[in-house]
Parts: sequence; structure tokens; C-alpha cells
Amino acid sequence: MTDGLGPLRDALPGEALHARVTRTLREAILAGHLPEGTRLPGHRALAAQLGVSRNTVVDALGQLQAEGYVHASTRSGTRVAVPGATFPSTTTQPPDTPLPLSAWATRALAGHVPDAGGGYEVDFRVGQPVPELYPAGAWAQALARQAQAAAQGTARPSGLEAELGPLETRRALAAYLNAERGARVTPDMVMLTGGTQASLDALARLFLEEGRVAALEDPTYPGARAALSATGAALWPVPVDAGGLNPAGLPFAATLLYLTPGAQYPTTVALPAARQAEVVAWARSANALLLEDDYAADLHHAGRPPAALQGLAPERVILLGSFSKSLAPVTRSGYLVAPAPVIRVLAGTRPLTDRAPATLDALALADVLASGAYARHLRGARQAIAHRHEVLRSALQVRLPTWQLTPTRAGLHLHVTLPAGLDEAAAVLGAAGAGVALTPASPLARLVRPPAVLLAFAHLPPEQLREGVTRLARMFGRPAPT
Ligand SMILES: Cc1ncc(COP(=O)(O)O)c(C=O)c1O
Repeated sequence: MTDGLGPLRDALPGEALHARVTRTLREAILAGHLPEGTRLPGHRALAAQLGVSRNTVVDALGQLQAEGYVHASTRSGTRVAVPGATFPSTTTQPPDTPLPLSAWATRALAGHVPDAGGGYEVDFRVGQPVPELYPAGAWAQALARQAQAAAQGTARPSGLEAELGPLETRRALAAYLNAERGARVTPDMVMLTGGTQASLDALARLFLEEGRVAALEDPTYPGARAALSATGAALWPVPVDAGGLNPAGLPFAATLLYLTPGAQYPTTVALPAARQAEVVAWARSANALLLEDDYAADLHHAGRPPAALQGLAPERVILLGSFSKSLAPVTRSGYLVAPAPVIRVLAGTRPLTDRAPATLDALALADVLASGAYARHLRGARQAIAHRHEVLRSALQVRLPTWQLTPTRAGLHLHVTLPAGLDEAAAVLGAAGAGVALTPASPLARLVRPPAVLLAFAHLPPEQLREGVTRLARMFGRPAPT
């Protein structure tokens, strides 16, 4: 019996028995329980002590000898060959000293909003997947076709193409953006990314640091705020009113402005042409880049969406797009469109991070875009989403007429200003008491704004939407009409 050894350690997931025996012995040695020079019992005795077969012990000792932890000789048996007491006996425990976090990580974590949990009867909170948007059949076929082509020896992209993504995907995207978004794009202006968050992170690291200014709409998308503020740059909130971003609130100078002109997030208002022109004129005079988040490009439910700002100033606007809403169940996927000097720097720095976008996903995306399958699928999904929007809008108007709905032509949620006398926290807590989850709007703003909530509707079937409004009306409004 070797006292210092202790019992066999609990198995780690996937760990074979001989590896477990090896680890038990190695940890006992490193913890100093089996000091250097200790003679281990014979194979049979050790096997009995650990409750394993002799062969398993032979395997384990062979491994420890190869690693240099023990030394075996016919004269003196198997002896421990290294000094111990250098490591704690358990290796899966987290260290109890604070991690040496960088300033970036500290700032990034400070912006994190904890999840409020689940268990609601009707969950109107934003950011939920909409299964109808996923083109399951077309995507599966495209992926299979492209995997087959790759297996037959398609060459891997090289040079610039590797960093930006396959040329056929960038061609398909340029054609889609020029046709559908009124953009002015050539394939060499396109870079594929893992979604808008990845695009924002890459751009924030390129252009922002302490001492610089990033302007952004207020209220705004928290993912954008977090990426920009983690760089240490000062954030300049530009007020949003009933006409979207108000250019009168733009700073004298800034490195960049993040904005959502197609459907302001979260108020969903489109930026009128006159204000777009003012923003572009400001950017030219301040020599600022415009980061246009076109998140609602495909998500319009009434008529065609307004053209992208990028078409007005392709030399200054970086257009950010995402497929991660539609392809969410299987992959994250997005792109950015930027002028040539910005693309060159992005391509030059990408090898330091993720090297290149996932090739197979990118090729499948080219396939579904170029074949028209993506557009066809989305047309159907948009109809369902438009119907859901109408169901929620009319139910709220009838049952909660003092809740003021911002007219919405795109996106997946409604922005609702609360009536006088009902503050946001009371609305969110009251709704939760009725089994309904709402997103409060004030955490998205830094400037003072009227109390408001967001209700995502696209992920919920019509009967759930009506049920949610019935519950809210019972809590805050009129009884159901009889
Ligand atoms: C304003 C805004 N931008 C971008 C995105 C998409 O970001 P990503 O591609 O990182 O999922 C969303 C999705 O919720 C959004 O609401």
C-alpha cells in the first residue's frame, strides 16, 4: 500500500482507464505525496490498490516512464524520478487569484448585461431566433453541393481572396447589394465576416483607441456600443428623435459614426434623405468614417426598404450586413463593404485573428444567393413576419390604446413609448408578473428618454402574440371586449 497515492481520481469526460491511472499517479507525484525516490509497489499490488487490472497499471507506468516521472530498473524497481510539491493536487480547480485582465477585457466585461432568465408564458424580448427565416432546404442542398465540389479537389483560395472570402461569394453579394440595396459595390470591396459583431470588432480595433471619439446614435444597439467602448475611445451619443438620428447633435470631430439609417435600432425609424445628406456632409468635413449597420436589409415588411447610405458615399461609408439572423441555427455569417484603403488594412490584419472566413459556409452562401433560392425563401418568410407585425400592432392598438407605437416598416420588433404615469421598470415588472417578458429601452440609451419598451414579434405565432397582449391588457389596460 502506498499511502501518498490516494484513491483513483474521478474520470474526466472521455478519459480512458489507463489515462486515469496515469493521471492519478502523476498528480500524486506533482503534489509531493510521492516524493522523489519513493519506490512504488509492484504492478500487482498497485493494481489491487487502485482497483484496476495489472495490464492497466503496466500501461500507466510505461507512459509515466516515457514522460520522465518514474524510473524503472530490475534492481531497484520503479521509483519516482522528479521532485514534487510544485503543483496543487487538482488541476481542474480555477485559480483563486484574479486573472491578469487587459484594459480591453475589463471594459468589455463591464458592458455585459446579465440574462434575466426564462420561464415566461409569452416572451417578447428582442434577440430571439426566428426559425422561419432559415432557408433549411436550400442551405442543406447548397452545403452538400459545395462539400462535394471541395472533396473533388477545388483549390483553396489564396492571397487576398483567403482573407476576404471566396470571389464567387463576394460577386454574389455585390450583385445582391447593388440590386436590392441601392449600394455601389464591386467584389473587391467586400469582406466576409462571422457577422456584424465580428465586423464591428475588427473595425473598432483598426480605428479606435483611448483619446479618439466614436459617435453613435442614442439609443443604440448594445452590441455596437460594447465593441466601440471596449477600445477605450470616448463615446459621443447623438440624439435620435422621431426622424431618426438628429444631425444637429453630431460632434465637431470623431473618428467614426455608427448608425442604422435603414431602421434605427431600437426605434425602427428610417433616416430621411435630407438627414442622410447632412450626415454625409458632416462625415466629409470631419473626415469621419460612417459605419452603416444594415441589419434590417432583408427584414422589411411594408414595401421596399430605403436604399443604403453607402450608395451616396461609397468612399466613406462602411456597410455592415448580417446573415446571422437567417442562418442562425447553423452558422454565423455576415459581411462588410468598405472602400479600397480600408479593405487593404482589414485584409492585412486578418491573418492575426481568424485568418479567413469559413470557406464552405461562404461557398454555400454564394450558391443560395446566386441561384435566387435565398431571395425566394425570404419573400415567404417576410410575409409571415409582416402578418405577425400586423397582428401585434392591431392587438396593442385595440387593447392598450395609450401605448404609443412607433410606426415600423422593417425589423423584428415594435418600439412602444409608455403612457404617462407608467415607468419602464413598473411596466417590465408588471408584465413579468403576468408571465410576459418585455425588453426595457432605457439600457440602450445614455441620454434621458421617455419610458419605452421593445416587443419582438417575428419569432412568435399569432396566437401567442394575441395571448401576450391579452395578458398585458389585463395588467395595464382595458378588459377584453365581450
Ligand atoms: C442593430 C443590429 N445590428 C446587427 C445585428 C446582427 O449582428 P450579428 O451579425 O453579430 O448577429 C443585430 C441582431 O440582432 C442588430 O439588432
